[in-house]
Amino acid sequence: MAAIRQEKISDFDAREALLDRAYGDVRFAKTSERLREDRLPAAGLSFVATEGRAIVGSVRLWDVTAGPGRPALLLGPLAVSPEHQGKGIGAKLMKQAIAAARMRGHGAILLVGDAPYYGRFGFSAAKTGLLWMPGPYQKDRLLALELAAGALDGARGMIGATGRLAPKPELGALVAAASNGAVKSPTPRAA
Ligand SMILES: CC(C)(COP(=O)(O)OP(=O)(O)OC[C@H]1O[C@@H](n2cnc3c(N)ncnc32)[C@H](O)[C@@H]1OP(=O)(O)O)[C@@H](O)C(=O)NCCC(=O)NCCS
Repeated sequence: MAAIRQEKISDFDAREALLDRAYGDVRFAKTSERLREDRLPAAGLSFVATEGRAIVGSVRLWDVTAGPGRPALLLGPLAVSPEHQGKGIGAKLMKQAIAAARMRGHGAILLVGDAPYYGRFGFSAAKTGLLWMPGPYQKDRLLALELAAGALDGARGMIGATGRLAPKPELGALVAAASNGAVKSPTPRAA
């Protein structure tokens, strides 16, 4: 049975491999990625699912604004490794992420995803009609869950990234790692 815990730095490679398998390269082209790249996830809101020592699921939440001056979280990516799907791991990750966001006092969570899946956790497009993402997306897939009643009342405008910037690797360390063969080719990014 899968267990859920906070993501650790040492989970990095296993999580990347999991996301590659669950989404393929398309994950870098998603507009949500524009709100995540070069940022750190929201404090205390990255979780992995484990089966023994294996990472079989992952979810993160990110600091954004739902229109000017309205703090919110963006959820994603949510992924479960293909051979472990359909066993309730996605639901466990979602429930943990939502509960932790609520405990930390966040008011609302946004995401771009399938309403038939996320609807079961209370997400809907009811309050996202006047919000927009900074790039292409399907409007009916922009969903939200209020953690505090009315947190998204009157929400309108562009969703923007507000998370802390991720530290840039120091050039000397990159060169040394590359000469040891420890640096992979640059991450593909969509325009
Ligand atoms: C979506 C995903 C995270 C679900 O994880 P999971 O552990 O398989 O989910 P659970 O076991 O908690 O729930 C399974 C249920 O969700 C349904 N489901 C899964 N993906 C769905 C989707 N995209 N739309 C609607 N329902 C979906 C299954 O049919 C199943 O339904 P049932 O409970 O009626 O049998 C997983 O399938 C995945 O990683 N997919 C690839 C990446 C992805 O597309 N992620 C974002 C989805 S928008």
